[in-house]
Formats: sequence, C-alpha cells, structure tokens
Amino acid sequence: MSTSQKNGAVPRKKRLLTGLRPTGKFHLGNYVGTFEKDLELQNSSEYECFFLIADYHTLTTGYETARSIGDDIREGVLDFLAVGIDPAKSTLYLQSLIPEVSELFLLFTMLVSATRAQRIPTLKEQIRDLKLDSASLGLLNYPVLQAADILMVRGEVVPVGKFPVLPGTGGEPKMSKSLGNTIMLSDDAETVRKKVMSMYTDPTRLRASDPGHVKGNPVFVYHDAFNPNLDEVHDLKSRYTKGRVGDVEVKQKLVVALNAFLDPIRQRRAEFERQPGLLEDILADGSSRARVEARDTLQQAREAMGLNYFSRARKTVDAMGSTP
Ligand code: TRP
Repeated sequence: MSTSQKNGAVPRKKRLLTGLRPTGKFHLGNYVGTFEKDLELQNSSEYECFFLIADYHTLTTGYETARSIGDDIREGVLDFLAVGIDPAKSTLYLQSLIPEVSELFLLFTMLVSATRAQRIPTLKEQIRDLKLDSASLGLLNYPVLQAADILMVRGEVVPVGKFPVLPGTGGEPKMSKSLGNTIMLSDDAETVRKKVMSMYTDPTRLRASDPGHVKGNPVFVYHDAFNPNLDEVHDLKSRYTKGRVGDVEVKQKLVVALNAFLDPIRQRRAEFERQPGLLEDILADGSSRARVEARDTLQQAREAMGLNYFSRARKTVDAMGSTP
C-alpha cells in the first residue's frame, strides 16, 4: 500500500497516454472511432490523461510529399480542442517539443532486432495501404517510437482495440479523406447539408413507397451515431422499412441532427481561431509539463542501462545548454 493510501489520501490516478497523428482536419469518422473515446476517458476523471500529438509519427509516411506539416498539425489540434479535449483537465503535448523522446527511442532501438521490427503485421499493412515502395527506417521504427512515447510519461493505461468505424457518405465501409467521402468536423452547415442530401442510401429502393433497408444504410448509421432523438430515429426506421417515408425527409432530419452536433464544435473552434497564439500557449504549457516527466524517465532509463557515465560532464553541458 502506498504512503498516500495509508494516510487516507485519495489514491493516485492511473496515468493514461494516447497519441494522435495530426494529418490535418479530422472528420466524423475520426470522432466516432477515436475522439469520442478520448473524451469519455478524459471526462471520467478516472485517469491522469496525457494526449500526445505525434508529429514525428506523421513524418514516417509521405514526409517528402507533405506540403505543410505545420498547418496540418494546427488544423488537427484545433479539431481536437474543439471537440472538447480540455487543457485544464488533460496534458496536451507535442512530441517534437520533447527532445528526450528521441533519445529514449534511440536507446530502445538497441533492444529490438531489425528482423523483429520488419515482422510487425501492421507495418506490412501500412506499406500495402499507402502503396509505398519500401519502408523508411522511420516507418520501420514506428512501434519503437510509440513504446518510447508510452514509457516517456510512464503511461500505465493505453487505450487500444477496435473502435467503431463510420461508413463514408458514398456508402464505402470507411470514412476516409483519401476516398473523398467525409463530413469534416469543421464543415459549415451548408456544406453538411449538401453532403447529406447527396448521400448514398439503399440502392435497392427506387421509390419512396418501396420498403427500404435500414441495416448498413449509411444514412441510418449516421442517425444512430449522431441523432440524440431516439423516438425520431425509431419512427424514421419503421416508416422506411414500410415504404412510408422518402429519403429526403430522412436526410433532412439527419442534416438537423448533424448540425446540432457540430455547432458547439464549430463554435469552440472559432473561439480558438479568434485567439491567435492560444494554441501555441496550450502546447507550450502541456509540453513543458510532459517534459518534466520525460527528463526524469530518461535519467532512470540511462541509469537502468548502465549509461550514467560522466555524469558531472553531463550536468555541466545540460546547464550550459539551458543558459540563453
Ligand atoms: N500510432 C498512433 C496513431 O496512429 C499514434 C500514437 C503515437 C500513439 N504514439 C502513441 C498511440 C503512443 C498510443 C500510444 O494514431
């Protein structure tokens, strides 16, 4: 039992770490698959949450062709804040502002054989999905860097597992930017309306009086995910299967529900956009906090690996490095 528990104090919260690759603006599929869970974990107050913006991981694929990495990070972080990730509750930090992570990663690369890194199935999937000719050493090391991220803040809980997947507006199994079938979290109301009104529904249904299929019909998948009015959804489904409602009404109601869901997100995004510098302040603050942990971890790792030689020289150099 820890000292704090003996003294009757509240037991320390478990530390949670999760990472996000900032590849630009996010869409409803990212919300359903990732953000919703992150928010739930943050707001449960059960964990001390660290949310990592993994910009180095973004560089592992398509670095040469990325045009504006800085802007992509900014847009991604804006969405993350807009959905309700709260810097007062969670530590939101940028990987590349923590140089210690690179050092810990380097030490970790000594512990993993090259063949083991090459055997990781997700790596093979990535190479196939992104149609890469070969993997850079950076991509090969993706999981090693991820392990360094986790140990860096001494994370105890890392959410994993299959999250729900939202279909694309064109009926594809997955919403994805590369397929051009997204509704973005930052789309305005009119854009959402246009996208929804031209959505794919039930291809077997030719007229409104034909009985339609609800299961796997993206319009209803979205209703289930975003329309809080369960009675309305139930009524629409039951009329749809009986051929007593047209696609237009189903879609119009979806537009209303989606815009009601997105409005507070748009408003928060606009607030952050109105205060230039705020986003950098948030990242500076969170990254400073994370870096305190990182320094401590790296020190422990060096000691554990027997690398604490020339510690006086190291201290002197560290001190010089921090003098302006
Ligand atoms: N690989 C994760 C993604 O693709 C991002 C990530 C980076 C991460 N470091 C991590 C996730 C550490 C969990 C823990 O989104």
